[in-house]
Amino acid sequence: MSTAIQEFSRYAHEYDTYNVIQAEVAISLVKQLASSHFTTLIDMGCGSGEVYKNLEKQNVSFEHFIALDSSKEMLAIHPSGKKIEKICADFNLPQTFEKIALEKDSLFLSSSALQWSKDLNFTLFEISKKVSSVHFSIFTSNTFKTLHQTAQITSPIYSVEVLKDSIEKYYDATFELKEYKLHFETVREMFKYIKKSGVSGGEQQLTYKQTKQLMKRYPLDYLEFEVLFVKGFSLEVRSV
Ligand SMILES: C[S@@+](CC[C@H](N)C(=O)[O-])C[C@H]1O[C@@H](n2cnc3c(N)ncnc32)[C@H](O)[C@@H]1O
Repeated sequence: MSTAIQEFSRYAHEYDTYNVIQAEVAISLVKQLASSHFTTLIDMGCGSGEVYKNLEKQNVSFEHFIALDSSKEMLAIHPSGKKIEKICADFNLPQTFEKIALEKDSLFLSSSALQWSKDLNFTLFEISKKVSSVHFSIFTSNTFKTLHQTAQITSPIYSVEVLKDSIEKYYDATFELKEYKLHFETVREMFKYIKKSGVSGGEQQLTYKQTKQLMKRYPLDYLEFEVLFVKGFSLEVRSV
């Protein structure tokens, strides 16, 4: 397993989006695909379509693309098309998996979304019963590590150890851990990014006064992110 660090700068006047890191993660995920043609792909937590857009850019073809997200607003801005089926559903609920019909040779994709699974064992087990091959990226608790240490709060998302334990229960998996740094001109910009990026820093656990204090004490001019990339084959589907 290798740990590569990629560094980025974000200056308010240069970028107007709050998903710099997620966009990079989706590029890497799609680059690592083992084939350039698939029958069916399902993207869980598809958001506004970073994965889909990269499949197009990288000339990956498919017959059927299922874009699943619990947010109607996100699905509304996800690209549409003849081959695209949009499903508004929550990967924390059993009924979501009851209504998805997939061929076993479909590929499961997910980028920067599964950290919001309330019960990782549940979500991963349900997915493992549906498709054999999975390829996903998931943020780890080392995201905003120094911020959490400075504020003395625990990350609201899973550690690498917990993730790997859970994944290995249901998949024969290989892992790659990547670190990212996102530089900022000001601490204020940094905190605005955390709020808007959708990768919560757990700062909601703090009061306004505590947040102010934290902004003063934060020792870095960048934010840290850590992402686990996973390629796996279901132990459930294989053993059927
Ligand atoms: C950080 S965004 C990533 C979006 C996209 N995959 C990308 O790479 O840019 C996380 C997405 O997961 C979706 N999401 C969060 N919790 C979910 C859940 N329980 N079920 C389905 N989608 C969920 C959110 O609505 C959001 O669109």
